[in-house]
Amino acid sequence: MDANNPILLMAGTQEHDLTRLDEYRAVGGYKALERARALEPQAVMDEISAATLRGRGGAGFPMGRKASLLAKGTGKPTYLVINADESEPGAFKDRDVLRMTPHRLIEGCLITAHGIGSKSVFIYIRGEYAHEFDVMRDALEDARTAGLLGGVTIVLHRGAGAYICGEETALLESLEGQRGQPRPRPPFPPVNGLYGAPTQINNVSTIALVPKIIELGAAEFSKIGVPSAPGTAVFSLSGNVAEPGNYERQLGTTLRELIYDVAGGIAGGRELKAVIPGGSSVPVLTPAEIDTPMDYDSIQAAGSFFGSAAIIVVDDRCCMVQLALRAEQFYMHESCGKCTPCRVGTRWLVQLLTKIEEGRGDRSDLDLLEGVCDRMLGKSLCALGDFAVYPVASYLEKYRGEFEAHVDGHGCPFGGASSIEGTFAPSDQHAPNLAETVHA
Ligand SMILES: Cc1cc2nc3c(=O)[nH]c(=O)nc-3n(C[C@H](O)[C@H](O)[C@H](O)COP(=O)(O)O)c2cc1C
Ligand code: SF4
Repeated sequence: MDANNPILLMAGTQEHDLTRLDEYRAVGGYKALERARALEPQAVMDEISAATLRGRGGAGFPMGRKASLLAKGTGKPTYLVINADESEPGAFKDRDVLRMTPHRLIEGCLITAHGIGSKSVFIYIRGEYAHEFDVMRDALEDARTAGLLGGVTIVLHRGAGAYICGEETALLESLEGQRGQPRPRPPFPPVNGLYGAPTQINNVSTIALVPKIIELGAAEFSKIGVPSAPGTAVFSLSGNVAEPGNYERQLGTTLRELIYDVAGGIAGGRELKAVIPGGSSVPVLTPAEIDTPMDYDSIQAAGSFFGSAAIIVVDDRCCMVQLALRAEQFYMHESCGKCTPCRVGTRWLVQLLTKIEEGRGDRSDLDLLEGVCDRMLGKSLCALGDFAVYPVASYLEKYRGEFEAHVDGHGCPFGGASSIEGTFAPSDQHAPNLAETVHA
């Protein structure tokens, strides 16, 4: 392992076809499982806790601590659920784990199942990941035939295209065959999760790191990354960088290094305008903030979130109002409608941003935009309501002059020349007719 650039999650994927069981075994695959099964379950969880493995799905909650909250003595089974729904614009890290190293995820599931005493694992895969589903199904079949499952059942479940099903309680509803909508909490899944039983839910990349922790030991693992967040992450660089793609680096690598040294800098020699560090749902950072290390605490101290490690790079051709509108159209479309601030607020935001972009807005609309954001933030049933606010509120705060230029100049200062292609996933620029539902 290269001490300067340790590769854990994607180790061996460049040299081997790790979708094949024999090749995964040739690089030491399933040895960690053997070692873990020789240990008491609590010893396995103690190792994971000592490694301070923080969840790679968004919130960065320590996996070991989450497992310690699992209710005991309930007389019900304990379930392990893997979140492979990956639908945030800009996020595509788990996709590579699923399609290039499926056995690492299966091995991580089996080690964790041993650690928490679970016999049933569910992997919830984004519906659009059809190829990844096939790869996982074949790998699972190979692992089963080779007798590796040890009495554990692993179920692969395909989602049906709803972003909200990545939210853990909506995911559980969906797994149970209900409409995918978040549950009120408490109770939290470790106490009352799938089918009312104690449930551990983790992201694909969190669980796929578990075999390396057992292989290296917590002490060695902790030397990688930063003390508050050891290990690596696969960073998905997209937007206006010269070489977009997935790159595994240690936590604590700065945004500047990731953008300029790793992803080749800004495409076409353009100027950097903005960086959205954790997927479309997190607050934007300016070029002055790119020396921030990419780890949970540093990025939060800078006013944003690590999110799904999806770094979206924006160059000087981009209109921030158009970008906010595109983000908001996504969240409006994906809002499940269960609670009012999010269901109605996302429509208000789309309507106001459309008005401003089309040159029909005035200065009071900017205040109204802020007011709607204030009324949504922290007042929704799940975090999607906040995700819908962060892009709009942070672009308005940091690029307010551009919003003002739209209203004062009665139109977009970029005219037809703004480029947001490839910056977020393409979306329909024309929002549905909102006049009937909301009056701004
Ligand atoms: C709207 C919404 C979408 C989410 N989508 C995902 C997702 O696709 N994958 C994921 O791992 N976590 C997603 N999360 C976070 C999960 O609710 C949960 O925190 C995570 O799966 C826990 O795993 P971790 O502790 O290993 O990070 C989403 C949260 C929200 C509110
Ligand atoms: S915040 Fe939005 S997505 Fe979440 S429960 Fe409320 S309406 Fe549904």
